[in-house]
Amino acid sequence: MAEREEWGSRIGLILAMAGNAVGLGNFLRYPVQATQNGGGAFMLPYFIAFLLLGIPLMWVEWSIGRNGGKYNHSSLPGMFQVMWKHPVAKYLGAIGLLISTIIMIYYTMLVSWLLGFSFFSITGSYSQITDLSQMATFLSEFQNGGGTFFSSMWPAYIFLILTLFLNFYILSKGLSGGIEVFAKIALPLLFFFAILIAIYVFTIGTPDPVNHPERSVWNGLAFIWNPNFSLLGDSKIWLAAAGQVFFTLSLGMGTLHTFASYLKPKDDIALSGLATASINEFAEVILGGTIAIPIAVAFFGLMDAQVIANGGTFNLGIVSMGVIFNQMAYGQIFGFMWFFLLFFAGVTSTVAMCQPLISFLEEEFNFNHKKANLVVGFFIFVAIHLVFFYQKFGFLDEMDYWAGTFLLVAISLIEVIIFAWIFGIDKGFAEMTTGADIKIPNIFKFIIKYVTPLYLLFILSFWTFQSAIPTLMMDNVKPENVVYLWGSRTFMALTFIGICIMVNIAWKRKQKGTNF
Ligand code: TRP
Repeated sequence: MAEREEWGSRIGLILAMAGNAVGLGNFLRYPVQATQNGGGAFMLPYFIAFLLLGIPLMWVEWSIGRNGGKYNHSSLPGMFQVMWKHPVAKYLGAIGLLISTIIMIYYTMLVSWLLGFSFFSITGSYSQITDLSQMATFLSEFQNGGGTFFSSMWPAYIFLILTLFLNFYILSKGLSGGIEVFAKIALPLLFFFAILIAIYVFTIGTPDPVNHPERSVWNGLAFIWNPNFSLLGDSKIWLAAAGQVFFTLSLGMGTLHTFASYLKPKDDIALSGLATASINEFAEVILGGTIAIPIAVAFFGLMDAQVIANGGTFNLGIVSMGVIFNQMAYGQIFGFMWFFLLFFAGVTSTVAMCQPLISFLEEEFNFNHKKANLVVGFFIFVAIHLVFFYQKFGFLDEMDYWAGTFLLVAISLIEVIIFAWIFGIDKGFAEMTTGADIKIPNIFKFIIKYVTPLYLLFILSFWTFQSAIPTLMMDNVKPENVVYLWGSRTFMALTFIGICIMVNIAWKRKQKGTNF
């Protein structure tokens, strides 16, 4: 068995963890979710979900991870196994590996678009565009090739390959030499860019006071931040808030666990986990909340900003921001900073998503780092062509629904039950507080044992009826897309079977003791 890797320093670990959590979700998904769910009305459900799901699960995932690391397990199959001796535990863990692997595939492509737009921004490729529909055309031609602005998919392909290459280059340097070093550069830089842009947003004020006095940054900020209690009866808002907390903190995926497994058994979890979550929330609520929506309100008015947000994450983040930058002083530079900060935020996330599968191959199959990295890189390279070519038929959204939304919550429910009920909350809490630099209030024992699982169960049941069954039955799907959605499902199913077979082989070998 090869020597286990370790984090270089505590600050490096926290930055890597924060890099894992801070991603497109903070700057694009959050403003879109908040806007779609009543702006300030989103705040309270979001905050409650953060306290009752986010923080407890953060600590639980770090604990499961650090505990697994003691037994040389850095991915969920082995981690679940050491907490629950039942043979099915490792296959439940395989679901976790599936999630990170699937999300990794499409997330890398999204991140590569942002690299593309950083480039287009600095070179002024779209600087002549002044309206939203043209910008939307520019984006879709970039993605799908052909039209007036682009003549093929090659530009998009090149950015995709560059992104993949950077990703696996970082991974090839290992945990502390790659991920940690990159996080130490990328996180401060992205915060610096985001803070500059946020300050710039405040200087915009009311761009057109004569014709549109109501179109101001202040109205945008008020919309997104002023709590509004009148919509709290709407369950949709509560579900969306919980979903966003999951997504933004990278919960339910196995990646936090994998990072935490490289801690030493007595390293602090309590304070570091909280610090990571806080950095993420600062980037999300303060910076993410300040930039995209207020700026869209200032330029297009509140009504149109809502329409834009309803058009999706990229409609806000790329289309509307692109047009706005074209109307601003130093727009090319600010545009570049915006897209590049998103790109960096994205790459610190994609490296994190690859790590569980790499660690799995290293630890359960005895691959050396280079081989594990190459195998995972090759698999992602092949698979990414599916999302690259079939994205427009809903291939990606299908993955995003099952792996990126539904299964996250399912795996979190499973892990919290294993942690609090099977492993046992007393042992679990003792594990969680070992080496702790702050005291975790005892109330969290109660929250983790009862509140979090019930909350999750509630969300999951609600989603099953509200969206999982309709999604499964393909209600509202265009007939010509059906075959692609089946393709997407088949791909996910085969990946899952593949992972289960590998788990099975690894465990059999271990039993025979031939693994070493
Ligand atoms: N948290 C990331 C974001 O806000 C997205 C994400 C979800 C993620 N799960 C992850 C990133 C797992 C890395 C690993 O955009």
